[in-house]
Amino acid sequence: MKTISFINMKGGVGKTTSVVEVATILATRHNKKVLVIDLDPQTNATLSFITLEEWEKVKDTATIADVLGMNRGASSRDDEFDIKNAIIKNAGNIKNLDLIPSHLELTFLDLDIASRTARESVLKNQFEKSNLDYDFVIIDCPPNLTLAPQNALMISDYIIVPVVPEMFPAIGLPLLINRVKKLKRDLRDCKVEFLGAVFTKVDVRYSVHNQQMNALRQNGLIPCFTTIIKQLAGINKAVAENKPATIKFPNEQVVEAYSNFVKEMLNKI
Ligand SMILES: Nc1ncnc2c1ncn2[C@@H]1O[C@H](COP(=O)(O)OP(=O)(O)O)[C@@H](O)[C@H]1O
Ligand SMILES: [Mg+2]
Repeated sequence: MKTISFINMKGGVGKTTSVVEVATILATRHNKKVLVIDLDPQTNATLSFITLEEWEKVKDTATIADVLGMNRGASSRDDEFDIKNAIIKNAGNIKNLDLIPSHLELTFLDLDIASRTARESVLKNQFEKSNLDYDFVIIDCPPNLTLAPQNALMISDYIIVPVVPEMFPAIGLPLLINRVKKLKRDLRDCKVEFLGAVFTKVDVRYSVHNQQMNALRQNGLIPCFTTIIKQLAGINKAVAENKPATIKFPNEQVVEAYSNFVKEMLNKI
């Protein structure tokens, strides 16, 4: 089992889009068993796979908030909760793709579990308890490094950083890299490594994008994937339908780009 977290402290860089398409491609085109964990209270990844009605059925009793032991009245603590109860099998009728949905209340996770010991390891303990059997666990993170993403990093083998090469990424990236280093010093057993940055929403006609990609490739801060994901309308069409583009618009250029990205990713792992 390999676990990959998609992280960037910036929002709007394609984290969720990448998680949704990469997970769907792994499940449908590579026959991998995939678990998607949505750790972003925005629930965008969740609602790309399941409908609002489906989410409403589970939101009070069986989401990542319950897995992480948030104090939500009726629901139990994580030491009583079984992570398997929060897993939606074949989410959106996609074979091999399971989902742990998110919850808006996740915004308050840090407040809720602040006084607990080993609060970064709640997800890790859940995983260790339950013998989950997947080829890949793909995690969508919010644009910060608070407790939810810290829990993700504790179970992750790799970090992939989606980067829009428009404003100088050399400002935000060193901060992320240093913070992850610090977390690894502070948190025992955190073995995560950067697999690399992937350029997203790229407009190759725009000289700034080319300059920024070259700069980042040359400065050696983080390895960069060769495959780039261009700014393409296929994604907007898929978002409008609340479905992965890979399922709804398999012939769109953006799906081909993500498909190439997944091949490169599998080669690197
Ligand atoms: N390759 C792309 N081409 C065009 N639009 C994109 C592309 N990738 C993402 N988007 C759009 O950009 C916005 C932010 O993407 P999202 O994946 O939600 O970013 P994040 O999760 O990092 O906040 C969304 O509206 C999404 O549909
Ligand atoms: Mg997102």
